[in-house]
Formats: sequence, structure tokens, C-alpha cells
Amino acid sequence: MSARVLDGKALAAQVKQEVAARVTAVKAKGVAPCLAVVLVGDDPASAVYVKSKTKDARECGIEAFDHRLPADVSQATLLALVAKLGADPAVHGILVQLPLPRHLDSDQVIEAIPPHKDVDGLHPDNLGRVAQGRPRFVACTPQGCMRLLALAGVQLAGANAVVLGRSVLVGKPVALLLTSANATVTLCHSKTRNLAEVVASADVVVAAIGKAELVRGSWIKPGAVVIDVGSNRMPDGKLIGDVEFAAAAERASAITPVPGGVGPMTRACLLENTVLAAERS
Ligand code: GUN
Repeated sequence: MSARVLDGKALAAQVKQEVAARVTAVKAKGVAPCLAVVLVGDDPASAVYVKSKTKDARECGIEAFDHRLPADVSQATLLALVAKLGADPAVHGILVQLPLPRHLDSDQVIEAIPPHKDVDGLHPDNLGRVAQGRPRFVACTPQGCMRLLALAGVQLAGANAVVLGRSVLVGKPVALLLTSANATVTLCHSKTRNLAEVVASADVVVAAIGKAELVRGSWIKPGAVVIDVGSNRMPDGKLIGDVEFAAAAERASAITPVPGGVGPMTRACLLENTVLAAERS
């Protein structure tokens, strides 16, 4: 293996220290940063994510509360909770864990979060501002990817960046951020032809498709930087990325591991957005 493995866990620990210092400073001004996390239903993976988000927050001195609603909750009840949190001056950040049960309209719920409390960066106002190159809150996973690219020291201006996956949560905002950083961006998806060839042209690959090892190591251009957003749970319980790690690491100059790459950075960026919301309040 020749690639440098980009240690998301270590970078996240550093970000958390910086957040903790900012929390102390803003508390000295009489503002106690507070994050409200809303979890609907009992999807085990979502429950784990929510638990780790509130734990991380508390470790940095941020107050964190989770609001749990039953899987069969009505849209009106969920919207009423979001409105209540939105109006509460003690709450600086609101995160509604996705995906929501199918009978709920997640777009409408996200839109009900006041944009200045949308620490997840998913409100259309916040995504739109990213598109305009004047972000208020950047979504946590895309921001985590950009921080890992900065850690890799890659020169984005003029680089060919290939993003796999066009989700609103990751692919689209990552493509916008890379564009703002002056990369030449290709956004690939399930209908893309000759995916292997497109990936082989990339100086930077961001894989966010949710299919274990779909990106083969042999596709990677020698020296490329690879960010693997995938987190696919295998039947044996192991977590596998969207990239064939060992083979890709033979060719890449730097690559993120799964787990321990993007995941910890997503969580750290949420803390950063939450303290930012409190500082602005
Ligand atoms: N589910 C998976 N990732 C995320 C995320 O970044 N934010 C929210 N709200 N839900 C998620």
C-alpha cells in the first residue's frame, strides 16, 4: 500500500478541541450552546447516530437534548415540535434525523426549521446559499469531505474532481463546494456511462453512492485522492466503504478509511455548526 491514510478520527478530535474552546468563550458571554436532535421511530442505525451526536456535543460542552417521537407520529405533531424548537431562544441548532418514516414529508419538515438553526445545512435556503458560493451552514458530511481534502493537501484549483452520487445530503453539495474551490467537477450517478473511465480521469474522487466497493481500485488514477463517504453494513456486521480500499490504496496518494474517515468528520462538523449558530445568536 502506498497511499497516505487520512485519519478522520484524529482530525475530528482536533476539531472537537477547537469547538470546546469556542463553547467556553461563548458561554463566557452568557450564551449556552444548545442542540436539539429529533428522532422519529426506532430505526436502530438512526438511534445509534443520534446517541453519538448528543454524546459528542456534551463532550464539547454543548447542551444536547433528543426528542423522540413514535414511528406513527403525524406530520402535524412533528411540525409542531419543530416549530416549538424553532421559537425557543435557548435552542441554537435543530437536527431532524433522516430518513423519516415513509408517511412523513421530510422536505416539509426540513423547511420548517428556521434556516439560522439548521445546523445540518439541509434547508433549501442553506443549500441555495452553498450554490451561490455564500454559505451560512454547510451540510456536515460535505463539509467533512472538504476538510479531509484540505488535510490531504490537494490543490483543488484546476483539479478534475469526480463525485459519485447525486444525493441532496452529500453528492450535490460536495459538487457545489468543489466547484467553489475551482475544481472541474463531474457529478456521476446511476445513469452515468463508462463510470470506470470517468473515475480514471479524476485527480479527486468522492464516492457517495451507498454500494459496497462499487468503485474498483483499478479505476483509480495513480496519485489521486480518494474520499469514501460509503458506510455499508455487511451481513457479518463489518462496515465497508463504496471504494475497494486495499486495491485503491495501491494507486491513490491519499485515501480515507471506512470506518474512521468521513464518519467522524461528519459528527465533528455538526458540532462546529452548532457552536457557530450559538456565536451568531
Ligand atoms: N442521516 C444520515 N446522515 C444524516 C445527516 O447528515 N443529517 C441528518 N439529519 N440525518 C442523516
